[in-house]
Order: sequence, then C-alpha cells, then structure tokens
Amino acid sequence: MELRAVRGMNDILPEEVERWHKLEGAFRLNAELHGYAEVRTPLLEPTELFRHQMGETTDVVEKEMYSFERHGDALTVRPEGTAGAARAYVEHAVHAKEPVTRWYYIGPMFRGERPAKGRYRQFYQAGCELFGDPGPLCDAETIDLIAGFLERIGIADFVVHVNSLGSAGTRERYREALLAHYTPRKDRLSEDSQRRLEKNPLRILDSKDPRDHEVSRDAPMILDLLDDADRAHWDGVLRCLDVLGVNYVIDRSLVRGLDYYTRTLFEVKATSGDLGSQSTLAGGGRYDNMVAGLGGPSVPAIGFAMGMERLLTLMPGDAPRRKPGCFLAPLGQVGADRALVLAKQLRALGVSVELDGRGGRLKSMLRRADAVGARLCVILGDSEIERGVLQIKDLAAHVQEEIPLEGAARVLADRALESSPGGGQRGAR
Ligand code: HAM
Repeated sequence: MELRAVRGMNDILPEEVERWHKLEGAFRLNAELHGYAEVRTPLLEPTELFRHQMGETTDVVEKEMYSFERHGDALTVRPEGTAGAARAYVEHAVHAKEPVTRWYYIGPMFRGERPAKGRYRQFYQAGCELFGDPGPLCDAETIDLIAGFLERIGIADFVVHVNSLGSAGTRERYREALLAHYTPRKDRLSEDSQRRLEKNPLRILDSKDPRDHEVSRDAPMILDLLDDADRAHWDGVLRCLDVLGVNYVIDRSLVRGLDYYTRTLFEVKATSGDLGSQSTLAGGGRYDNMVAGLGGPSVPAIGFAMGMERLLTLMPGDAPRRKPGCFLAPLGQVGADRALVLAKQLRALGVSVELDGRGGRLKSMLRRADAVGARLCVILGDSEIERGVLQIKDLAAHVQEEIPLEGAARVLADRALESSPGGGQRGAR
C-alpha cells in the first residue's frame, strides 16, 4: 500500500522551510513593531466554541470542520485562530490585567475545503487580535499593519477592500431588508441559500453559487442602513486610512464568511500573480460582541489573519541556504574518533559542523563538502593524527594546509566564522 500525505495537506521540506522562516521572521518583527506579543493556543478546541462564534450557518461550520468525539468531549481541530484567542482572553481574565491587549499568532488551521492552488485543508495563518479598543484609529492601524507588512516582504500589487456591517441594531434592520428582498425571489436561490434564508440571510450575499449572485445583484446594501453611531465610526475609519495614505476601495458587497463581525470588515486581495480565485491574502474585521458572548465583559475587538501559503506564492526572492562552517572528513578509525571530539568542540564554539560518518573515500567526502557549501573541509587521516596534525582545505580559496592538532578547534572556529560572513555560525543565515 502506498501511503501518501492526506489530500490538501502538504509536506514542507527543508529547502522550502527557509522561505517560511523569512516570512515568519518578517511577520513577527512587524507585529512586534505594532506592540503585539505572541500567543499560542491549542489546536483542539471544544466544537461548541466555533459553532457559536463563527456561526451555525457558515460554510466553515456546516461543511468544513474536522470534528470528532473523544472521551465524551466534542472537539474540533481549529479552522481559524480568532475564537481560540478570544476564549483564552476570557479564560485568563486578561481584561482585568490590562485595558488593551495585542496578540499575534502563527500556526496551522484546518478546513475540509476542496483543495486548489492557494486553498488547502491544512494551511497556515499569521494573524493579529486586538482587544479593548473600540475606536476607528485602531481599525485603520490594523489595515495599515497588513499593507505595510506586504510592502516590506515585496508584495506591491494588492488592493484593500473595506466595508461596514454596523452593530447589532443596524444588523437587525439589514436582516429585515434582506428578507424583504429575497423572500419573493426564494425559488431562484440555491438550495443552501433557501435553507439559510430565515436563519441568516446575510450568508446569501457571501454564497459562491452563481444563482445566488444573480438574485443578490440588486439586494439592499448595509452601508445605506448604518445608524448614526455606526456611520460616525465608519467615517472615522476612512479618515484615518486617508491620513495613513492607505489605498482602499469601499466594497459595499463585502460581508465575509464568518458571523462574528461587527462594523469594520476588510479583505486584502492580490491583483497580480497566479492565485486565481484564491487571491484573498488577508481578511479580518471587528468582532465587538465575541468576548461578551464567551461570558467575558463587554470588550471590543478587531483582528485579521493572512494565508501564509498565498503570501509565499507571491513573495519574491530566495532565502539564503544554511551552510556548515566545517565539514569533517575522517579517514580510518583513529580519524573518526578524533572527528567526533573535534565536532563537539567546534559546535561548542558556535560553528555549525557536518561530520561525514559514512567511512567512504576522500574524493566522495570532498564532493559532499562542496555540495553542502561548507567553507572548510577538515581531513583527519590516521597517519597525520599520529604525527599530531590535520589537513584543512579551504573550499572557496582552493588551498590546503596542515595545522597542529593541538588547539585545532580554536584555529578552525576563527577561520570558519571569519572567512565567510556569518558562515557556519549558529543561527546565521
Ligand atoms: P478567513 O477569511 O477565513 O478569516 O481566513 C483568513 C485568510 O486565511 C484568508 O484570507 C486566506 O488568505 C487564508 N485561508 C483561509 N482558508 C484557507 C485555505 N483553505 N487554504 C489556504 N489559505 C486559506 C479568518 O480566519 C479570521 N479568523 C480572520 C480574523 C482574525 N478576523 C478577525 N480576526
């Protein structure tokens, strides 16, 4: 039987992981510049958390969650990070410790969607969640954080879509308006949308079915129904985006696929590259009712998440390959014993070392030293060791010399660390 990775779930091999590190490093730096600190929450959460927060009638909850029962608990492998972060925020009563909390996370999420380029069943998100600030300034700063990050990693072709869903009162009036629009046209809707009509007509606007698009074309727009407070917030967000110089388009049909949003909503879409219909790089918005809905106090919140595979598809440039500073090529038993000790000493001095333990011929070991990009190859022959020396070959300068065995680790470390800038040093890239 040929075993393969689960459909829609990818292995990320070391040569690709270098680019992941580059992306993650840039995200961490950017989030920390905005005052965010990393949070790590479990991959498994109670199924009820997602059901209640993301919404019973959303595609994710209805069709895509990996849910199961174990030891009498109904569990779900997280399809997103927001609900878990808010659960942790309430569980640890973070609101009582600080008025404003900024958390970021990077990690895998799981949704049983139909796999396509840029759409996977295990995918990675980098996201931020901010609790405790209701003002429009932080909506604009959140969007600006994403735009600034994309530019920093070399993605310039994108557009920010913004809309407002208003708060609870506005949403209720909008629901009525949608019901009035869709009910007489019910027969022309998809089966999913007919079923969702009574419970959650907003979801019809977000449907992927072309039949629903047709009926939604002249549906009422929520921006026309905002109450005064929602309108003031919305105007404030747009003003701050203008002050920050963020380019955006007002996308009156943007509703997003999750139920927890209130007021500001946004998506960032790539405008070049070959992501096709998976061009949404980031999505987010306000969710001012979630913390209270989880049994916490009334604390407003806003956040976003970006799909890291999609960013990597568009991020230009290679990440530099990690190279060992010293490659040790022992010839014979005495040489091998000596190499074990020397490798340990070099690593203790901060030099990255690869020891060739295959016991092969010198020629093939030198080939390997070249292939891994080592700066120095150290040849430990039995007869030389008995004479108290070893050979070092500088693979870049193509020179070979003999040095005393005594104190060799120090000499090699100095050369390996100085000869190639950062080369061989632990953590150097
Ligand atoms: P979302 O729009 O469901 O929002 O996902 C955010 C981003 O994750 C998407 O824009 C996309 O780049 C990426 N993504 C989603 N599904 C997949 C998939 N199957 N394969 C690859 N990438 C995918 C959320 O998850 C919210 N929690 C965002 C948020 C945070 N809202 C407030 N705070």
